[in-house]
Amino acid sequence: MPTLPVIEIRDLHKAYGALEVLKGVSINAQKGDVISLIGSSGSGKSTLLRCCNLLEDSQQGEILFKGEPVRWKGQGGNRQPADRAQVTRIRTNLSMVFQSFNLWAHLSVLQNVMEAPVHVLKQDRAEVEARARALLDKVGIGDKADVYPAQMSGGQQQRAAIARALCMEPEALLFDEPTSALDPELEQEVIRVIKALAAEGRTMLIVTHDMRLAADVSNHVVFLHDGQIEEQGPPDSLFKSPQSARLRQFLSHSMAD
Ligand SMILES: Nc1ncnc2c1ncn2[C@@H]1O[C@H](COP(=O)(O)OP(=O)(O)O)[C@@H](O)[C@H]1O
Ligand SMILES: [Mg+2]
Repeated sequence: MPTLPVIEIRDLHKAYGALEVLKGVSINAQKGDVISLIGSSGSGKSTLLRCCNLLEDSQQGEILFKGEPVRWKGQGGNRQPADRAQVTRIRTNLSMVFQSFNLWAHLSVLQNVMEAPVHVLKQDRAEVEARARALLDKVGIGDKADVYPAQMSGGQQQRAAIARALCMEPEALLFDEPTSALDPELEQEVIRVIKALAAEGRTMLIVTHDMRLAADVSNHVVFLHDGQIEEQGPPDSLFKSPQSARLRQFLSHSMAD
């Protein structure tokens, strides 16, 4: 029996006012898929991720989580998710990691990781703490549990943010340029963690400017151009023999730096 995709996006359209940002995008992530989203700045990559976990509304098209379609009320510019409980369930199952980490400055690393499982999911504090400490160990910052984000390097903060996302025990992880705010030597420690997650069979959507990361970790790469999928495929063929002139041009710029 074919399994249902963890995330399925069908013909999604999204505009900010008159600005059409997504013009009919479809994505299908099966369990264990690692899909990289690449494309120029402004092509709609972040918007797509944010629509996917319902941080942004979209006007047309469907979003399905494990086969369950998001229920909408209203149409077009007035369309919104109809069921707040469904939104919470989907959002906690598609945990997001942001470029700028978005850790709470007034909470220790451990408190950051525990915050949502305890306060949103109402899970048992002791169980969450044990899980949080194990995850901090896993991402290599077990000794930083009681430290505040400002006392850590960017690479450590991003690994804390990944531990926080994992502590929700999500079905999939959504990364938005997870290494873009980091110096090159700190990028690597985050890339190692992402590679380890890929090797574990985690389902992930990764927006990245790092073509080597996309080539190394993903089984599928999607090139977005101007709100549409211009080309997609396995990294080997996409990077080695791009078909579209736009993708060739994009790669000639982004492989150069
Ligand atoms: N909150 C917003 N309000 C208005 N326009 C936005 C907003 N967020 C993004 N945009 C516009 O949508 C387009 C796509 O943005 P984005 O998804 O952030 O692209 P990318 O992540 O690929 O760089 C850009 O033209 C951007 O200026
Ligand atoms: Mg972006």
